[in-house]
Amino acid sequence: MCKVIGELVEKLYKYNSLSKEELIYLIKGINDDNKELLIEAANRTRIEHYGNKVYMRGLIEFTNYCKRNCKYCGIRVANKNLDRYRLTKEEIIQCVKNGKTLGYSTYVLQGGEDSYFDDEKMVEIIKAIKSMYPQDAVTLSIGERSYESYKKMYEAGADRYLLRHETASRKLYERLHPDGDYDNRVRCLWNLKEIGYQVGAGFMVGLPGQTTEDLVEDLLFIKKLEPHMCGIGPFIPHKDTPYRLEKHGRLDDVIIMLAITRLLLPNVLLPATTALGSISDKGREKGIKAGANVVMPNLSPINVRDKYSLYNNKICTGDEAAECRRCIENRINNIGFDIDLGRGDNLNWTRG
Ligand code: 5AD
Ligand code: FES
Repeated sequence: MCKVIGELVEKLYKYNSLSKEELIYLIKGINDDNKELLIEAANRTRIEHYGNKVYMRGLIEFTNYCKRNCKYCGIRVANKNLDRYRLTKEEIIQCVKNGKTLGYSTYVLQGGEDSYFDDEKMVEIIKAIKSMYPQDAVTLSIGERSYESYKKMYEAGADRYLLRHETASRKLYERLHPDGDYDNRVRCLWNLKEIGYQVGAGFMVGLPGQTTEDLVEDLLFIKKLEPHMCGIGPFIPHKDTPYRLEKHGRLDDVIIMLAITRLLLPNVLLPATTALGSISDKGREKGIKAGANVVMPNLSPINVRDKYSLYNNKICTGDEAAECRRCIENRINNIGFDIDLGRGDNLNWTRG
């Protein structure tokens, strides 16, 4: 078994591809004795493509209003226990300025699907940031919108868009998203690519009912889509959702998905997510060692932090932006990596 796993890892390292059957075999055959083979190959691939740099993005969670009802998510519209907030344009700009002072050059504006932030408002915010810092990157993460909306925001200067596909298994997707449309989600990702954004897809690991076969669908999906970024983190239950009593995704399962993703897409930008850091103290460090090369510390004002509650036990909700900035840099340095505060564009990408 071990020999076969080693061979599969070598094949993946060399060709950046495996069949569905091989991926299933690999994931099912990974154990404590052979997982280092996979992690080491993923690390080697990352070093060859990006060196030992870990890119930093400043995250601004600017609205927790959301019209959707994803069963796993704490800001779902049905959650009436949540104190909802929206940052004003001025507050958002203040977060960006604060980020700039701390050395950032990428700002991620993330929020629920909030109709208040229509195209006009988003364009205004994007233009305001780009006119202050034209060289810096603006990333949006505000869910499904029309092609025209994505295009307007791109033309206003937005550079990147994060829209996790959440799970590539249609059956599981439909179970998790009672009001969702799988085909539309996938269409949005292709639209974003066509428009010219650097696109981030991604999925959760350990979702209720998720199987190895479902995870392999995620891997095959991202291999086909070739996103510039891919956010992978554990599912974590939230007390005010139907999944309150479910278990969170396992650290090792996330690490294995990160490593395989690095090997399938050597140039991908791969965050060591906050959710990964939330299930284990050294989660993000382990993610980085397995091929992750991005971190997204929080720049949101401290008084709204705990309201952006996607899942419980989220780290950093009480820490000022400057503290997270320092803490994460130390953590990265302690495992032999260096932070990079540049834009950190995907190696495959040039703005058209
Ligand atoms: N556990 C882990 N991740 C979650 N997200 C939303 N809810 C949860 C949860 N309960 C993730 C989704 C979303 C991203 C912003 O946060 O993948 O795309
Ligand atoms: Fe926020 Fe460590 S990264 S406190």
